[in-house]
Amino acid sequence: MLGRWWMIVPPVLLAGCGPFSSLTDPAGAQSRWLADLGWSLIGLMSIIIISMFVLIAWGALRRRGRLEEHLPIDVDGGKRWILYGGVALPVVVLTILFGVTLVTLQALPGEAEEAPGLRLRVTAHQWWWEVDYLYDDLSLRFSTANELHIPVGVPVEIELQSRDVIHSFWVPQLHGKLDAIPGHTNRVVLRAEAPGTYRGQCAEYCGAQHAHMRFLVVAQPPAAFREWAAHQRQPAPEPSTEELLAGREAFETHACAMCHRIRGTRARGSVAPDLTHFASRDTIAGVLPNTRARLQAWIINAQAFKPGAKMPTLEQFDGETLNALAAYLESLE
Ligand code: CUA
Repeated sequence: MLGRWWMIVPPVLLAGCGPFSSLTDPAGAQSRWLADLGWSLIGLMSIIIISMFVLIAWGALRRRGRLEEHLPIDVDGGKRWILYGGVALPVVVLTILFGVTLVTLQALPGEAEEAPGLRLRVTAHQWWWEVDYLYDDLSLRFSTANELHIPVGVPVEIELQSRDVIHSFWVPQLHGKLDAIPGHTNRVVLRAEAPGTYRGQCAEYCGAQHAHMRFLVVAQPPAAFREWAAHQRQPAPEPSTEELLAGREAFETHACAMCHRIRGTRARGSVAPDLTHFASRDTIAGVLPNTRARLQAWIINAQAFKPGAKMPTLEQFDGETLNALAAYLESLE
């Protein structure tokens, strides 16, 4: 029974390592610096630890002879080891680490001098991410949530804010962690080097749903990004069937509209994610795949999936209304 305890070690070590979030697979300049720093630390530490174990083994196994052979006892004999191994070596190693870390820190904001090709404001909330696309022309601005699209190869400046507590914005493959602090705006410039979907995660404990405070960064070729942005700017599509019409009516006349906004409808809440193009997102609230069945489950019992979230359980809908509501939301491409 206990004989195979070691079999749980690899799954435990690998738990949480998704294909999209590996620090060792950088897709941006800042992450490359951090990955290089990580590898050099691992390399240096490996050399030190292996040398240490070799010395321990050598000390334990070498022939020592008998005590009489060593008389008189050489009490000063080990001092050099203490001096070299206990003082000189740590000073050298820590100085190297300090230097390497300083160089990395210097390099991190390296792209800030470039004029950003796109400006976003990311606002952290307990427990979701609000994303505003800040174009100088106000008519081009729009908002989304828990998923941001950026053009590949373009420096994107992110103004980071928080609405409540301290969070931390982190996309391991693109940049280093940056705190989102209430009343203070932090900035990071990131640039995705390759198209892809990169997973992000809040990296500062912010309450019960900290672990569920995930988001996606979708890096697209610039033309595809412009197309996506142009679509996001459009108001929500008009309902094309009776059911969708009933769904919109239900959304506008129940609690939904008090918190959420769907541009082009009477729903103008501003404390919860903008749902104008909800169906174009991959996830529901960053925690569930965006499918009709899961959306229904989320509407009637969000607390089961994200306990403590501000989305209440909405059990007042009958089956038909719930169907219509979910169908309407899933039509918001
Ligand atoms: Cu937000 Cu942790």
